[in-house]
Amino acid sequence: MWNKKDLIGIKELSKYEIELIIETAVSMKEILKRTIKKVPTLRGRTICTLFYEPSTRTRSSFELAAKYLSADTISIATSTSSVQKGETLLDTVKTIEAMGVDLFIVRHSASGIPYFLAKNIKAGVINAGDGMHEHPTQALLDVFTVFEKKGKIDGLKVSIIGDIFHSRVARSNIYAWNKLGSSVIVCGPPTLIPPYIEDLNVEVTYNLDEAIEDADIIYVLRLQLERQKKGLFPTLREYHMLFGINEERIKKAKKDVLVMHPGPMNRGVEISSEIADSLLSVINEQVTNGVAVRMALLYLMLGGKSDENTV
Ligand code: CP
Repeated sequence: MWNKKDLIGIKELSKYEIELIIETAVSMKEILKRTIKKVPTLRGRTICTLFYEPSTRTRSSFELAAKYLSADTISIATSTSSVQKGETLLDTVKTIEAMGVDLFIVRHSASGIPYFLAKNIKAGVINAGDGMHEHPTQALLDVFTVFEKKGKIDGLKVSIIGDIFHSRVARSNIYAWNKLGSSVIVCGPPTLIPPYIEDLNVEVTYNLDEAIEDADIIYVLRLQLERQKKGLFPTLREYHMLFGINEERIKKAKKDVLVMHPGPMNRGVEISSEIADSLLSVINEQVTNGVAVRMALLYLMLGGKSDENTV
């Protein structure tokens, strides 16, 4: 049973709730394989995407997920909304809520904005990425992808490589893997590893070979140049030499290792094109699974009923 109005972070989810989302996503994936990818489950429900930061994957997969479940969607573009006339974020959201929206999907550069909105409106809120805090649906689609590929999550070794400091994806993933029984090691330049990260039950190494040896999953993070101050590492070329995943470095990994990346990628920086496009990479599957997992969440949060006429 799902009984949460909002999804703000993986930190607040139980193992049972994560497993329920994965289980529901398995059924949703079946719908995605059909020629006609549409069921009437959420007919009459309305979802609003409100993105204050750019997005390709998250926004479009939420919109497609809603459409496949027959929900109506609206999208507020901050550049053309009354935000430009000085309207506050809360007034904007309350205005849209008054029109009958059931659920808001929110991305914002400030950590805590989805939580703030969730406390102040009756409609549900899903965090689609807030500052350096969390990106819960990314982590959910990641664990679902590994579950599909490996048939289990418990006992796996996951290495998260790169810009841990600025990454909401890293934080959500660490919570998710830990709750599901995987061990997590983080690796990157010391300037991109946050202090006290060990408190989240992860091992830390600054040596890439050590991180990838024995790993079942190599999770490569985007270097978040837009959030970084200058001087955190000498050059992109040196970063790639020390922490980039390429054909040479991957030789030290297990033969059946999965390479993951949340996207968008900086090809040639944190990952080479040869590896991103190789058979080890599940990056495209992650994107597909993003739709299934978001369908599962919309279904659970908006109280869809599963019967033979719907799913
Ligand atoms: N992974 C992810 O959040 O991608 P977008 O920024 O394209 O949504």
